[in-house]
Amino acid sequence: MIKNIRNFSIIAHIDHGKSTISDRLIQMCGGLSEREMSEQVLDSMDLEKERGITIKAQSVTIFYVSQKKERYQLNFIDTPGHVNFSYEVSRSLHACEGAILIVDATQGVEAQTVANCYTAVELGLEVIPVINKIDLKTANPKQVKEEIEDIIGINAIDAIECSGKTGVGIINLLESIIYNIPSPRGNNEESLRAIIIDSWFDNYMGVVSLIRIKNGQLKKGETIQFMNTNKKYTVEDIGIFTPKKISKTTLFCGEVGWIICGIKKINNIIVGDTITSVKFPALNPLPGFKKVKPQIYAGVFPTDANQYVIFKEALKKLSINDSSLFYEIEQSSALGFGFRCGFLGLLHMEIVQSRLEREYNLNLISTAPSVIYEILLTNNQIIKIDNPNKFPKLNIIKEIREPIAKCIILSPPDYVGNIIVLCNKKRSKQISITYYNRQVSLIYEIPMSEIILNFFDELKSVSSGYASLEYEFHKFQISNLVKLDILINSEKVDALSIIIHKKNVQYQSRKLIEKMKESIPRHQFDVIIQASIGNQIIARSTIKQLRKNVLSKCYGGDISRKKKLLKKQKIGKKRMKKIGNIHIPQETFFSILNMD
Ligand code: GTP
Repeated sequence: MIKNIRNFSIIAHIDHGKSTISDRLIQMCGGLSEREMSEQVLDSMDLEKERGITIKAQSVTIFYVSQKKERYQLNFIDTPGHVNFSYEVSRSLHACEGAILIVDATQGVEAQTVANCYTAVELGLEVIPVINKIDLKTANPKQVKEEIEDIIGINAIDAIECSGKTGVGIINLLESIIYNIPSPRGNNEESLRAIIIDSWFDNYMGVVSLIRIKNGQLKKGETIQFMNTNKKYTVEDIGIFTPKKISKTTLFCGEVGWIICGIKKINNIIVGDTITSVKFPALNPLPGFKKVKPQIYAGVFPTDANQYVIFKEALKKLSINDSSLFYEIEQSSALGFGFRCGFLGLLHMEIVQSRLEREYNLNLISTAPSVIYEILLTNNQIIKIDNPNKFPKLNIIKEIREPIAKCIILSPPDYVGNIIVLCNKKRSKQISITYYNRQVSLIYEIPMSEIILNFFDELKSVSSGYASLEYEFHKFQISNLVKLDILINSEKVDALSIIIHKKNVQYQSRKLIEKMKESIPRHQFDVIIQASIGNQIIARSTIKQLRKNVLSKCYGGDISRKKKLLKKQKIGKKRMKKIGNIHIPQETFFSILNMD
């Protein structure tokens, strides 16, 4: 019955206890026994490794009998906590009527608490504040409630106090969910409209999608149509996650579940598309999701050119599970054929690269990430550049604009001085600074390129790990930027070019070259690294040749030792690309990220 369904997400800052509370809800509502809970987790991980697919249940349906003895179906949708994945959060929230906002009773409100809560409020969801970890001695629920009211601005008088660890207060949370979160709208008699929240690829079943039925009902065996692509399929199987994958014959209005239509062609599924029935089609699709734009771009290349085709296939498969991943073919004279990929942030880039390597057995090299620049040409045309190598010639550039992010930093007052010094180094503009009881909120405009270069780590380091950061694209702004080329033994290596600010360009280039020098191994000959702007060399350094050959340590024909040494050298060469006759490791491409 639709009036007894509740759809909600759990949102929180990292480590505030989202997973612990989710597990506790599953356990209390009989989804899994204690033994099954650990088995379930292990199963998923084994399968993930074995088949190279993501099978993590992203929604869980549990059944709760309330204190008034009424049975409720609760569907909760998992959301990642990290700043790079706010898009995923907003997608999950689209499928819900409510959100549980978890705040650690010892840490208080942090940047992602604020950002995720605002996303939920903007989408019109009912937000239930929950103070977790009250079992800890240092817990201060009263103060945290004040912070929720002061910093976020939502009412926290009735916030639930609980402990995911001991289970205290979890029943109150369940009762609050059924009383405060509205039941879904729509009914079973309407024409079917279901939104695709997420999809992933299974080698055996093809595409599996997570959907939310907004109107009508969906039956196994019926023919459906994807409203944006007009493609038609027969529903082979449908069901829910409890978190076990359970098949059902019908998914009713308001429910969240999975659907398999035997789709093997990956391009046919778009997250955010609406499914309707062919027999009684709906007139209009659901609004779908806001399209996200990647914030950073990098070239990704297989170290072995023979892996290009596998790489292409892997990207295709991965992108259906990650609709925020953008890619297009890129050809580099230094690195050969690869893809220019767009990511939501550095963590996203790291995760994608490691998923590609782990799940598809690839060995990849990425170039330094770049933000997207807007360039006004002398003929008044505006172009967007995501690759330093596409930078136009200086004589046809009228204006270069760089992306500026609006950042919110929350920190205990002790570190405010350090944070301001750090932000000043990053070409930032302070917008506001507000003192609350235990926390200070600083709002800054900072160039996106400065944020992606280590800002988060530096912020953590100047605040002993206490400050938290959330940012989003704000605007493009005119900036004094140049393209810096890197030459190795006089050959320009296109994949090493970067865009930097003219301020301190000499100093920055020297530091960059020094970092590169540290990462490139010695060769049998001198390796000269130079940085240039246009034709002008502005920094230079030499990696002296190896004086001794590795093999020179082997006396005569000690073949086994020789083999061992060669093997060792081979391992060391992993994640290296041979450019001309010079081996360049991954770290060289990331030198700009490692500068302080
Ligand atoms: P991410 O998945 O990284 O975003 O973290 P999360 O929000 O899911 O947090 P998680 O549930 O993994 O909990 C983070 C840490 O806090 C873990 O070490 C938990 O054991 C601990 N923790 C969670 N809830 C409680 C609680 O109620 N009391 C205590 N003492 N510890 C808790």
